[in-house]
Amino acid sequence: MIPRLVLGIETSCDDTAVALVRDGREALGSVIAAQTVHSEFGGVVPELASRAHLDLLGPTLDRALAEARVRLEDVDALAVTRGPGLLGSLVVGVAYAKALALAAGKPLVGVNHVEAHLWASVLDGIDPPLPFVGVALSGGHTEFVLVRGFGDYALRGATRDDAAGEAFDKVGKLLGLGFPGGPAVDRLAARGEARAFDLPRAMADSGDYDVSFSGLKTAVRRLVGERTPPFDEAWLADLCAAFQAAVVDTLCNKILRLAADAGARAVVVGGGVACNRGLRAALAAGCERLGIPAVFPAARWCTDNAAMIALVGAWTLARGPADGAALEPVASLEETGFAAPRG
Ligand code: KG4
Ligand code: ZN
Repeated sequence: MIPRLVLGIETSCDDTAVALVRDGREALGSVIAAQTVHSEFGGVVPELASRAHLDLLGPTLDRALAEARVRLEDVDALAVTRGPGLLGSLVVGVAYAKALALAAGKPLVGVNHVEAHLWASVLDGIDPPLPFVGVALSGGHTEFVLVRGFGDYALRGATRDDAAGEAFDKVGKLLGLGFPGGPAVDRLAARGEARAFDLPRAMADSGDYDVSFSGLKTAVRRLVGERTPPFDEAWLADLCAAFQAAVVDTLCNKILRLAADAGARAVVVGGGVACNRGLRAALAAGCERLGIPAVFPAARWCTDNAAMIALVGAWTLARGPADGAALEPVASLEETGFAAPRG
């Protein structure tokens, strides 16, 4: 049976998040304390992230309980991100969740962060038809997963180098747009002309579902190296548009091919890059050609949040025992044992 009220905790990267989810699908309260310490470094500093999680977890828990108008005693179970992510950050979240579960006398379950991204649309009341292609696109992830049911996954494709969000962030940094770069590139791209630059689409005909972004980033670096800042607004907009179009083409090519080959009945996208307007438009059009829906969760469920963790925690507890004190964080997706071997 799905536990009635689950408290979720997420600390896999640089967001400290706590949420409460009812009946495994309705978020009652969801608080995300974004860490501000990283912006001056142009990227997430792992050591600073774990320290900030330590400071922020208590107040974030209090805010989430207040927002949901519940007390810790009312909660039936706890769920926490087990991995993948930054190990130091995961350790803080898992230790905190263990202590809280022990003190409150509640069961605790570990949740896979990528799996949680794949099911976030349920928080919007959307149950994607099975099988679907689940796509996780964030600063640390670019995975294409064939989802045949809850707990039944096959990893079909991934990036060979940079994650999609990482590519946006690196290009944003090269262009002096701050961190994270994705939203700024997206905004500028809307005003630019993508055909102004001819940028590479790596691995387009590789015959698998993998992608690569390092060559694209190098091509942008070369173009930036030919100029001295401050960059001309129109040039910046054109370069952002061309870069974004190359990323979007690369992703859509493989995602849509996989959806067609696997007979998927929907494509569901999660992770921060799912907010990208160019990607949304292109994937929606591509899915329409295939006659299947492209599902994008609301922005607050696309980026890292604890409601998706509580949701998957609730479903996991409905199927098996809690992990409790045996729960250990793991940094890589492989270690989580999440997906069947590729192929
Ligand atoms: O899922 P998320 O909040 O955190 C993790 O990395 O797990 O995703 C953050 C990533 C960053 O790389 C950010 O630049 C990217 O998502 N991002 C975007 C957009 N909004 C966020 N990338 C492209 N276009 C956007 N609109
Ligand atoms: Zn994420």
